[in-house]
Amino acid sequence: MTENTYYIEKLKQLIEEKSIEAGRRLTACTVTFGCQMNARDSEKLTGILRESGFELTESENADFVIFNTCTVRDNADQRTFGHLGRISHLKKKNPLMKVAVCGCMMQEKGNVEKIKKSYPFVDLVFGTHNLYRFAEYLWEVYSTDQKVREIWDKTDSIVEDLPIERKYPFKSGINIMFGCDNFCSYCIVPYVRGRERSREPGEIIRETEALARDGVSEVMLLGQNVNSYGKGLEDPISFAELLDEVCKVDGIRRVRFMTPHPKDLSYDLIRAVRDNPKAARHIHLPLQSGSDRILKRMNRHYTKERFIELAQKIREEIPDVSITTDIIVGFPGETPEDVDDTIDVIERVGFDNAYTFIYSKRRGTPAAAMEDQVPADVVKAGFDRVLAAVQKSARERAQLLQGRVMEALVEEVNAQKEGYVTGRLSTNMVVHVPGDASMIGSYVPVLLEECRGFYYFGKIV
Ligand code: SAH
Ligand code: SF4
Ligand code: F3S
Repeated sequence: MTENTYYIEKLKQLIEEKSIEAGRRLTACTVTFGCQMNARDSEKLTGILRESGFELTESENADFVIFNTCTVRDNADQRTFGHLGRISHLKKKNPLMKVAVCGCMMQEKGNVEKIKKSYPFVDLVFGTHNLYRFAEYLWEVYSTDQKVREIWDKTDSIVEDLPIERKYPFKSGINIMFGCDNFCSYCIVPYVRGRERSREPGEIIRETEALARDGVSEVMLLGQNVNSYGKGLEDPISFAELLDEVCKVDGIRRVRFMTPHPKDLSYDLIRAVRDNPKAARHIHLPLQSGSDRILKRMNRHYTKERFIELAQKIREEIPDVSITTDIIVGFPGETPEDVDDTIDVIERVGFDNAYTFIYSKRRGTPAAAMEDQVPADVVKAGFDRVLAAVQKSARERAQLLQGRVMEALVEEVNAQKEGYVTGRLSTNMVVHVPGDASMIGSYVPVLLEECRGFYYFGKIV
C-alpha cells in the first residue's frame, strides 16, 4: 500500500461519516489557473478527491474548494485573489466548507503571507513540490480541523501512480518532465517549479498504454522544454525517440507536445514529426521577441534569423503543419523598432496563431531588476500593432484550408449553436459541424466550408 492509498482509505471513512452527518454527500470543486501542466496536476488533485468519497462538482459553492494557482503574470495572481474574495462569502454561509490553495503562486513567499493575512479562512496551503502529499494534508485538515500550511523549497523526486480524474475521456496530457532550467530573464517558472527532471520513458509508455486502454486516443506530452527531455536519465533518450515510442502505442491516434524551445529544436525532431503520421501537424514554438537585442536580454539563446530558418525548415519538411507561438510585448528596454522586428518575424513565418502577452514584472527574476521598464502607453501601442499582425497572419493561414477535407476529433457539444459539435484538426484548428453528443471522442472527415477567422464551420462528408 502506498502512503497515498493509506490516507485515501482513512479519508474515505471520515468523509463518509461527515456526509452522513450532513445528510448529503460532501461536494468538492477544483479550480485551475495556468498552463497544461497545472491542468494535469488538477486532474491528480481531483482524482484524490474522488477516491476520498467527495462528489465532484463544477460549482465553487462546494464543501471543499481547491484553487490550483498560476503566477506567470500578475493578472493570474489577481484572478486567484478575486476568487478567494468571493469564496469568503460562501464560506460564511456554509460552516462545513473548507478552502485550499496550492500550485505555483504558493511557491512565492509574499503570496503565502498575503493569504495568511488577508484570507485567514483558507484551511490548507501547499506548493508544487509537495502536491503528491495532498491526500495526507486533506486527512490532517479533516481529522484535526486545524489549518495546514506546508511549502517545500524543492524536490528531486517524481511520484508515480496518483489517482487521476480526467477532464476528457478521449484525450489526456502526460507529464514527461517537470521544472525548467532555462531561466529566461522574465520568467518565474524555474523558481516555482524547480529544476528540470525527466520521467523514465518506461513510466511514460506505461501511462500511455493505460490511457489508451481507458479510451484515450489523443495525448499531449507536457514539459516546459520538451526538447531537453531525457537529460539526467540513466539511459538517456532523446525527445524525438520518445515521441516515436509513444506513437507506437496501440489505440493512440494523435500525439501532441508542448512546449519545445527554439534553441533546442533539432532537425531529428522535425523529421520524427514528419515521418510519424500520428504526430500532430502542429508545432507551438514560442518566439517571445523578434529582436536580437531583446532576445539576448531575455536569455533565449537564439536569433531572429535562426528562428525564421527553423520555422521555414518545419514548413518545408512537414506539409500542412501549423506553427503557433507566444509573444511578449513590453520587455524592459523594448523600443518600437524592436517591435518592428517582432512583426517582421510574424509576417515572414506566417504564424497560424499566437498568444500575445504584455510583459509582467515578476519578483526575483533578472528582468524585474532591469532599469528601463517600458511605460504603459508605449507597451499598449506595441501590443496593438503585434496583435493586428498576428490576426492578419492567422486569418491568411486559416483561409488556405478552405474547401479541404480534414480529419477532426469531436471534442464537445457546441454551447453556442444548437445541433452543432466542436472538433479539432490535427493542426489544432477548431471546426464546428452539425452533430450531437454521441459523436464526442470520434474522428470524422470534415469539409472545411466557411472560414471565420481562426476557426471553421464545416460538415461531415
Ligand atoms: N516553457 C514555455 C512556456 C512557459 S510560460 C516556453 O518556454 O515557451 C508561457 C508563456 O508565458 C511564455 O511563452 C511567455 O510568452 C509568457 N510569459 C512568461 N513569463 C512572462 C512574463 N513575466 N510576462 C509576460 N508573459 C510571460
Ligand atoms: Fe519560462 Fe523560459 Fe522555462 Fe519557458 S523555457 S518556462 S519561458 S524559463
Ligand atoms: Fe503558471 Fe505554473 Fe504553468 S506559473 S504557466 S501554472 S508552470
